[in-house]
Amino acid sequence: MIALFDSGYGGLTVLKPILKLLPEYDYMYLGDSGRAPYGNHSTENIKMFSEQAVEYLFSKGVKLIIFACNTASSTSLRHVQEKYLKGKDEQDRKILGVLIPAAEKAIEVTKNKRIGVVGTKATINSKVYETEINKLDKDIKVYGKACPLLVPLIEEGWQNKPESHSILKKYLRDIKNNNVDTLILGCTHYPLMLKNFKRILGKKIRIIESGEVTAQSLKTYLGRHPEIEGKLSKKGKKEFLTTDDPARFKEFTEKYLGMKIKMPEKISL
Ligand code: DGL
Repeated sequence: MIALFDSGYGGLTVLKPILKLLPEYDYMYLGDSGRAPYGNHSTENIKMFSEQAVEYLFSKGVKLIIFACNTASSTSLRHVQEKYLKGKDEQDRKILGVLIPAAEKAIEVTKNKRIGVVGTKATINSKVYETEINKLDKDIKVYGKACPLLVPLIEEGWQNKPESHSILKKYLRDIKNNNVDTLILGCTHYPLMLKNFKRILGKKIRIIESGEVTAQSLKTYLGRHPEIEGKLSKKGKKEFLTTDDPARFKEFTEKYLGMKIKMPEKISL
């Protein structure tokens, strides 16, 4: 089974393109909505939440976990990989993130070598995008902008309200002033406001979403790692878990994925 982990609903923007590209596998989606948003928490807390999610998912027999959350990927991915994938375990199970695929795509796309990144406070403060991009091309300038109000607005279902549009416009002012030609949506919630991003940025700025690029990179990864791919069950099953109200989670998920799902299981981590 492949599991996707996010602080709430945002990871659904990663699950959707993955289901489209790789529908044959079994999937488990864990949204820690009860403690979302992660983005304003301390790094120590996010690491602890991530450890709890990883332990839970591995205890359920998951072989491959995708951190479908930029905040967890940027603050905790390396930490959980080091903690849970030692020795023999490394052959047996894997944990991947959404950051590298988005960074690589942005490098491929930019022409003027000026890339913007928007994300939660934790993601932007970690400077992980900047570090990863500059490891691959040190001449690229990366401009980060934390947008802490967006996730609560999206979790509340307010993404299309005029107030949310105005807030986004204000956040994107610096990004536009820095003359970037590429913007990474460094938060898996933000594609839920994609139309607003496009309206504000216009056609000249290319927008990179984690979902599409992560799906492509997962496909490539599975092709290159038969030792993991061979362990994944393939019945096309989908299971949803949440740490908050399952009925609300079901409603949002069905609406976003455009499919009926079984009632999510309420768990505590
Ligand atoms: N989905 C998370 C991300 O990609 C953000 C939500 C949160 O702050 O919990 O960063």
